[in-house]
Amino acid sequence: MPTRSTVILGTGSYAPERVLTNAELSTKVDTSDEWILSRSGIRERRIAAPGEAMSDMAVAASRRALENAGLKATDIDLIVVATMTADLPMPAAACIIQHKLGVSSNAACFDINAACSGFVYALDTACAMISSGRYQKALVIGAEKLSPIVDWQDRTTCVLFGDGAGAVVIGTSDQPNIGLLGTKLGAFGDSVDLLYISHGGSSSPTTPESIAARGHCMKMKGKEVFKLAVRVMDEAARDILEQHQLRADQISLVIPHQANLRIIEAISQYLELPMERFFVNVDRYGNTSAASIPIALDEARRSGRIKPGDVNLLVAFGAGLTYGSALIRW
Ligand code: UT7
Repeated sequence: MPTRSTVILGTGSYAPERVLTNAELSTKVDTSDEWILSRSGIRERRIAAPGEAMSDMAVAASRRALENAGLKATDIDLIVVATMTADLPMPAAACIIQHKLGVSSNAACFDINAACSGFVYALDTACAMISSGRYQKALVIGAEKLSPIVDWQDRTTCVLFGDGAGAVVIGTSDQPNIGLLGTKLGAFGDSVDLLYISHGGSSSPTTPESIAARGHCMKMKGKEVFKLAVRVMDEAARDILEQHQLRADQISLVIPHQANLRIIEAISQYLELPMERFFVNVDRYGNTSAASIPIALDEARRSGRIKPGDVNLLVAFGAGLTYGSALIRW
């Protein structure tokens, strides 16, 4: 079977209405707009409404992606959802999203948890399944409702995260050498303790005591994550460029995981690529984990920053610590 180019046919994103500003956060924990902005570049983040599920946000983003692709839900035969905040521990969010969207029961549906790198992992997986010829049209979603797993009493983490969703529709093209050109995925499992949730998994189920100790919330060694993130993102970017014999200056736009503006600025310096070539929206959404790259990708496309022939570099890192980079030619 000939290898087919796997291409993005449409993109969509969704952010909940409720805006939580740094000023408002400063009334809840001992922090300030000045500290948050100077250390992270974040001005505000979105918070899902109490009854608004992660799957609702994913469905809203997916409808926009389908509309953008000119396709219907019934055209989809594969749903891959990158998330660490599925509505329920079981079943997969992809099945709930399938039902809400009206996607056929012939579609394969599953979730991937690679934390903030999840969307790059999901994109790679879906594109491999599409290029095999066994699937025709995929919805690849990155969606997170992080607000219930943020420790709102811990100023070192609560200022960083937000909720949101992004989605892309994947299909094929006969045109060679476009779409997803390649990916580089990896993980440093020896660094699990830098960013994790201690309770609620099978090794330490939730107890009344663990809830009181906020063991269901994210814990992070911020400084160490920061250092590793810069090194790993730089390496993942260089590896994929080298693999495809491209120079950094041939990348029209880098779409990095939006965790911290200072991390993005460091990558810009290391790659010797000006900040104008980096898409940044961390100021408006904070870190939305697996949703951050697909939201940024959608905003970049809709604001005219991606044109036919352009090559984009996606690069991410997250809990695990996972990392991933991808090259896309439009
Ligand atoms: O997707 C992966 C997710 N994680 C990340 O990307 C996080 C990566 N790490 C970071 O982004 C940064 O390390 C942070 C933004 C989390 C922190 O920035 P930092 O420059 O590394 O600050 P720090 O942790 O060294 O803290 C400096 C000071 C400390 O006070 P002392 O010990 O110097 O007196 C903190 O207690 O700032 C204090 N601090 C705060 N002050 C006001 C920590 N959080 C806050 C806060 N408001 N929210």
